Amino acid sequence: MNLVVTEVEFGERPPVTKPHPDLLKFLGEDGIRKIVDEHYEAIRDSEIRFMFPMEEEEFEAAKKRAADFFIQILGGHPHFSETRGAPRMVGRHAPFRITPSARKVWLELYIPIFERLSDKVPEPLIEIFWNYLNIFSIWMINTKEDQ
Ligand code: HEM
Repeated sequence: MNLVVTEVEFGERPPVTKPHPDLLKFLGEDGIRKIVDEHYEAIRDSEIRFMFPMEEEEFEAAKKRAADFFIQILGGHPHFSETRGAPRMVGRHAPFRITPSARKVWLELYIPIFERLSDKVPEPLIEIFWNYLNIFSIWMINTKEDQ
């Protein structure tokens, strides 16, 4: 499987394509929630842990908000818009100092999850979703490395 992390100059925002709904069709909502759960559990032991809510209940709520968004962007039920309003992802990430290396940590935490998943999910479905995360996560970068 080819999970490449794209590196860009600060300020670049390559065009994003919405991920294909087939991953959601294949895994169902529960499958998407499991992926996000594993990602957030990996965040707990990472150097970007400090950005996320400290309080357990709030951390679990953050996990749910992220899964709601991914289900929606994969063409599923608009859970996120129903509970949070317009996605405005860039604006919602503005309060956090997301450097290129923080984005890289965030993104790379998905790699082992997707590698495990490739036992049961066709690789192209995973790669399409990876490509979306790889590119859209660049949009969340809002802080230069040395600031
Ligand atoms: C594909 C890229 C990304 C997507 C789709 C995404 C999605 C989301 C969503 C849906 C939320 C909840 C927002 C809300 O309900 O207000 C969120 C929160 C957050 N994200 Fe991201 N995110 C992405 C990349 C990143 C990156 C690269 C970082 C940092 C390295 C990051 C850090 C955070 C933090 C700290 C929060 C606040 C936690 C909370 O919800 O309380 N995100 N993200």
